[in-house]
Amino acid sequence: MLQRLLSTQGPATSLRGILRVLLAAGLVAGRVAAEGPFQLPKEEIRIKEGAGAEQLKSNCLLCHSSEYITTQPVLTRAQWTATVEKMRAKYGAPLVTNSVPVILDYLTRNYGKESPPKR
Ligand code: HEC
Repeated sequence: MLQRLLSTQGPATSLRGILRVLLAAGLVAGRVAAEGPFQLPKEEIRIKEGAGAEQLKSNCLLCHSSEYITTQPVLTRAQWTATVEKMRAKYGAPLVTNSVPVILDYLTRNYGKESPPKR
């Protein structure tokens, strides 16, 4: 599906697509400005307090809401490590290196478990 999209769209088409999006965004922005004060819905950050919460807020909530984190199933430390590594490697999260272990401690303590259940 993605491949078909990529192969049928030459560079010229996608450039035109980008221009169209920019134009639409400009129109929307203009309309909002004309209507006067515009309030964005207040986004609530609801995460458990505790050591590491501040690091999580400043490193992890740039791109998505805290619900991405709080609605995960109970993950092991290894699974949280893989998730955080994916954020960095795949999505380009600019994580502060020193904060990563603190965040993993926080996630495991509040939204995870140390190791998988023994069977
Ligand atoms: C650079 C942007 C960015 C930052 C910073 C970021 N994420 Fe993400 N995150 C994403 C994207 C993109 C997705 C996938 C969104 C989707 O699939 O709808 C995602 C999805 C998730 C998910 C959902 C499950 C999954 O594996 O896709 C979790 C949990 C998550 N992020 C946790 C974190 C944590 C913890 C941090 C901080 C260490 C973090 N994110 C920082 C971009 C980011």
